[in-house]
Amino acid sequence: FVPPGGGGDGGGQSAKDILGADVTIKQWLQGHPQPGSRELAQGLKGDPTYLVTNQEGSGIEPYGINAVCTHLGCVVPWAAAENKFKCPCHGSQYNAEGKVVRGPAPLSLALAHADVSDTGVILFSPWTETDFRTGTEPWWS
Ligand code: FES
Repeated sequence: FVPPGGGGDGGGQSAKDILGADVTIKQWLQGHPQPGSRELAQGLKGDPTYLVTNQEGSGIEPYGINAVCTHLGCVVPWAAAENKFKCPCHGSQYNAEGKVVRGPAPLSLALAHADVSDTGVILFSPWTETDFRTGTEPWWS
């Protein structure tokens, strides 16, 4: 028995770049070597989803952050200088992990699991467990 969303081969959908090509961990780290780098890839259901370089700069954090604002659906840019996500549409703000810190957005940004396959491709899979940022059930699942 393999629990859903456990990652690894067969357990996800590859992250895609702007051209629709699979994103590999090698390419990602070449382009985003700085710890905490955040940039969009195409994620589950085609949703723009941030990948995050881990604190060691050696890989990615095991979660992707869905960039669709929980207010009215604008794509939320990362404001690196302020270490938060800021929605340009109505001013909602989310911390570096996508937890809502200012409305009108009612909810935190959705999460997806992010893993690296045996062949080095970054995979997203549904996040159905507790939201580690709030300790609550995932509203998006
Ligand atoms: Fe983001 Fe309204 S859509 S604040």
